[in-house]
Amino acid sequence: CGIIGSVGRGRETLGVLVRGLSNLEYRGYDSAGVAVSDASLSVCKRSGELDALKEALQGKTLEGNAGIGHTRWSTHGPPTDANAHPHTDCTGEVAVVHNGIIENYEVLREELEGAGHTFESETDTEVVPHLIEDLRAEGMDFETAFRKAVSRLEGSYAIAAVIEESETIFAARNDSPLVLGVGEGATYLGSDVPAFLDFTDRVVYLDDGEVARLSPDGWAVTNLVGERIEKDVETVDWEPEDTGKGGYDHYMLKEIHEQPQALRQCLQERVDELSGAIDLGDDLQQTVRGAEFIQLVACGTSYHAALYAAQLFRSQGVPAQAFVASEYVTAPPPYSEDTLVIGITQSGETADTLSALREAQRRGVETLAVTNVVGSTASRECADALYIRSGPEIGVAATKTFSAQVVAANLVAAVLEDRGTHHDFASALRDLPSQVQEVLDETNAETVAERFVDSEAFFFIGRGYDYPVALEGALKMKEITYEHAEGFAAGELKHGPLALVTSETPVFAVVTGETGSKKTVGNVKEVEARSAPVVAVTDGRTDVGRYADEVLEVPETDSRLAPVLANVQLQLVSYYVAERLGRNIDKPRNLAKSVTVE
Ligand code: G6P
Repeated sequence: CGIIGSVGRGRETLGVLVRGLSNLEYRGYDSAGVAVSDASLSVCKRSGELDALKEALQGKTLEGNAGIGHTRWSTHGPPTDANAHPHTDCTGEVAVVHNGIIENYEVLREELEGAGHTFESETDTEVVPHLIEDLRAEGMDFETAFRKAVSRLEGSYAIAAVIEESETIFAARNDSPLVLGVGEGATYLGSDVPAFLDFTDRVVYLDDGEVARLSPDGWAVTNLVGERIEKDVETVDWEPEDTGKGGYDHYMLKEIHEQPQALRQCLQERVDELSGAIDLGDDLQQTVRGAEFIQLVACGTSYHAALYAAQLFRSQGVPAQAFVASEYVTAPPPYSEDTLVIGITQSGETADTLSALREAQRRGVETLAVTNVVGSTASRECADALYIRSGPEIGVAATKTFSAQVVAANLVAAVLEDRGTHHDFASALRDLPSQVQEVLDETNAETVAERFVDSEAFFFIGRGYDYPVALEGALKMKEITYEHAEGFAAGELKHGPLALVTSETPVFAVVTGETGSKKTVGNVKEVEARSAPVVAVTDGRTDVGRYADEVLEVPETDSRLAPVLANVQLQLVSYYVAERLGRNIDKPRNLAKSVTVE
């Protein structure tokens, strides 16, 4: 998940790399490693904390003028020493680090194995050093072999490679950030600026399809076929101490802004852009299609994703129900042998959810984990795992993982539906990350937060797919602001909660899509008649805006996906209210990211 590279003569390359890796720690990781090139190539890598790598490096002399380092967050294969980057070829002459997902790695691996290459890891990345090795064996120099290898890759990547007896790093990017740092007598490479900001503030941002060459004599950028590209050197005005969270004030805000990328990663390899076919792998698809009944178990934010997923599966004709995991254990519902129990858990470690999944397994029921953490307990204990690939989430309040859970639920639903191809839906999914970006760029959530920060309580209503979003909006608000917030099914408001509504209690009405949103407008009028301020979160398909004091707009999309966009607006409102109240946003009082007791 983080890349650092350094080239320069008379420098402590290893020291620079380790410093860079510790600057990248804020991104979250589960393994780390370095490679330094001299007469031979030295590689050292370890799963776990950076300290484990530092310990492994003690007493070793990794000297040389060019080196690369990496912090990994697992997407293919669990966090082990072997799966940590850098990866090498069979001869140990080429080392590669990579962020992103190589979509065609299975085909490439098969081809390379057929040609006699042996692999040591389960990662997609390892195909790259082997490809380079093959091309060098054909007589190509490092640069040509690197270009050729990269041009065979499909998917997203920020890649850097070094070889033995060379003082050069080659790097390339497609859909994954990569930046050069221009220093005095040294050039650096980073997946983001903080990686090398201790050494230089002069940067060159690489674009997709560009290849960078870093050597002690300087740097050059070309396209994939080797034509020179002129790049501007910019000076960033960040201080090293500002950058712990990648320039954001809080991890939560950073993670809210990472949602477009998180969703792209979740969709990658799984939705065929041309045919619209959705592919989650044969085993998983077989499990899902064999389900006559689905029970979902989850806690907190993941439970809201489970409620959403249950509704989605029911709309596909499959009886499905979401359970709070602790209740599932206390009062297990009936099941049949065709029941599939899906545990939704970001961390894969929540004790209540694990316990519910174990209860299902004890009864002999098939289980599937939908999780963000490769190698987590849930992923190991369940028969199947579907990874949401959000990257590490550090803020206690879940944000990007909720969005990715909802998208993952849509992928499962599409498989259940078994229509083979899903053109319209695939294109709606494909557009979703940029629509999230649009919300992030154009939001007026800060103004809304400012206006209502001193309210007595915050209520959230929605129906259909907007109902879990209302619950999630309220949970986020109470988690990070410590203010009273409640979410209700819009239709239930009049059956009790309406008694709480006053002019001091803004009501956030989530009104998207088609399902019943007109009725929610009716509920909004009831609220308005009790003089409560109304904030409408809407895609403009109804006239709810007419009755609202503030409107948070979202772009129009498929009804099933609109709640993701609405939720982003609510995340931002909670964030800004908490910020104005001076709360401990990333670590709210009394809460833990992963609760490992029942
Ligand atoms: C804790 C966190 C919540 C999270 C819940 C479930 O309570 O504070 O933010 O939603 O656990 O976590 P999971 O990792 O299972 O999704």
